[in-house]
Amino acid sequence: MTAEVNTRGSLRTRLALILTGGAAGLAVILFVVVRALSAQIAQQGQDNVLSASMSSILDSALVRDGRVSLDFPYSSLSMLTTDADDRVFYAIYEGEVLLSGYDDLTVPQGVTPDRSRFTTVAYKGEPVRLATGVRRLIGADGQRTVSVTIGQTQDALSNTLNAISRNVALLGIGFFVLATGLAVWAASFTSGQLRRLTTSVTRRGPQDLSPVSKPVPSEMVPLVGSLNTLMSRLDHTLTQSEDFIAEAAHRIRTPLATVRSHAEATLQRVDHAENRQALLSMVRAIDESSRAAGQLLDHAMVTFRAENLEKGEVDLEEVLRELVQRMSPIADMKDITLDLVAQDASVLHGDAILLQNAFRNLIDNALKYAPAETAVMIRVDGRKVTVCDGGPGFAMDEIHLLSGRFVRGKDTGHKVGSGLGLTIVQAVTTAHGGTMTLSNRPEGGACATVQF
Ligand SMILES: Nc1ncnc2c1ncn2[C@@H]1O[C@H](COP(=O)(O)OP(=O)(O)OP(=O)(O)O)[C@@H](O)[C@H]1O
Ligand SMILES: [Mg+2]
Repeated sequence: MTAEVNTRGSLRTRLALILTGGAAGLAVILFVVVRALSAQIAQQGQDNVLSASMSSILDSALVRDGRVSLDFPYSSLSMLTTDADDRVFYAIYEGEVLLSGYDDLTVPQGVTPDRSRFTTVAYKGEPVRLATGVRRLIGADGQRTVSVTIGQTQDALSNTLNAISRNVALLGIGFFVLATGLAVWAASFTSGQLRRLTTSVTRRGPQDLSPVSKPVPSEMVPLVGSLNTLMSRLDHTLTQSEDFIAEAAHRIRTPLATVRSHAEATLQRVDHAENRQALLSMVRAIDESSRAAGQLLDHAMVTFRAENLEKGEVDLEEVLRELVQRMSPIADMKDITLDLVAQDASVLHGDAILLQNAFRNLIDNALKYAPAETAVMIRVDGRKVTVCDGGPGFAMDEIHLLSGRFVRGKDTGHKVGSGLGLTIVQAVTTAHGGTMTLSNRPEGGACATVQF
C-alpha cells in the first residue's frame, strides 16, 4: 500500500525556472550595458573627429588688414566624410557676425577658448552633433573673438550602433540559450541526487531496514539522517516484537505440553461419555494452541532470518530425503507413502534451516489433508520442488488467499492447524528470490510448487 503524498510543485522545475529567469535578466542587463558603452565610445569617436575639424578651421583664422580671415584646408571638412554620407554643417562667427556657413544653425553660447563644447541638436529634422570652439585673435585694433561650430548628422553612428546592438543581441540570446541549457542540466543533476536516494530506498527488500550508507550531498544529510533514525527505530521495534512472539510461543508451548499429557492421562481413567467428550475437546484445543504457538515461533524465526539469510550450499535432494525420513513415522500412521523422485537436483545457495522449514510445511500439509492409503509425490527437478498428494486438492475459489496469514481453507474439517504453513513457505521462497504456486492435479489432489 502506498500512502498518498501531498505534492506542491517540482523542485526541478522551480530550480530550472529560477536559473533561467536569472539568465534572462543577466542577458538583458548585458545587452543594455554593452549598448550604452558602445554608444558612448562611438559618440566619443565622432566628437574627436568633429573637434579635430573644428580646431583645424580655428587654427587657420588670422587678422589680416584689420579683418578676420580664415583659409582652412580642404581636409578640415573632408575628414568628416563617412560611409553613410553624413551631412556636414558649419557656422563661423566673429563675435555676433556670421562670417561663413549656415546662419540658422543653433550655435551654443558662452563657449570659452579653453574648452570646446559638444551638443546634439535637431537641425533640418535630423539629430546633428555640434562641436563649438572659440579663439581670441589679437589684431592691431584690439582683440577679436572667432567661434567655429561644426555639425554632422549621425547616420554612420546610428549604423554602427545598430550593428553593435544586433551583435550584442545575438550574444545575449546565445548566452541565454547556453545558460538555460546549463540551468536545466543543473536542476536535473540536483534532483537526480534525490531520485538516486529514492531508488536506493525503494529497491530494497521489504525486510531491509539497514541505514542508507551511500554518500549524499551535505544538504541531504539531515533528511538521510532522519530516515536512518526512523529505520533503526523501526528495526528495533520489529526485532523486539519478533523476539517477544518467539519467547511467548515458547512459553506457551511448554506448559501446554504438560497440560496435554495430563489431559490424555485423565482420558484413560474417565469412562463417562460426556466427560470423555469434554476431555477430547480439551486435547484438541490444546493441540490447536500448541500448533499455533509452534507455527508462530517458526514464522517469527523465518521473518527474522529472511532479513539476514545464513546462506550456504543446500543440496535440495538431501534436505528432502532427510525430511522424508523424519516424517515417515507420521506418514506410516496414516498409511501414506512418501515418494521422493529427484532429477538433476540443484545445490542451492540458501538458508538450510529456512528451506527445510518450508518443505516440512508442504509435506505436513500433504500428510494432513490427503486421506489414508494414498501417496505423496515429492519431486525435485533442478531448482524446482513439487509436493503433490492424493487428497481433495485446494478449493479453487480460495486458492489465491491460502498463503495469507492465519488463512485456513473452508473444508479443513477437524484437522488441527493455524493457517500459517503456506505463509511460511511463501516467505522463505520470496527470501530466496523464488516463487510459490498452488494448483490441483487433473486427476485430483493438491500440488504446491516452489521454484527458485
Ligand atoms: N495439501 C493440501 N490439500 C488441500 N488443502 C490444502 C493443502 N495444503 C493446504 N491446504 C489448504 O490451505 C490452507 C492453508 O494452509 P496452511 O498450511 O497455511 O495452514 P494450515 O495447514 O491450515 O495450518 P498450519 O499453519 O498448521 O500449517 C489450509 O487450511 C487448507 O485449507
Ligand atoms: Mg499447513
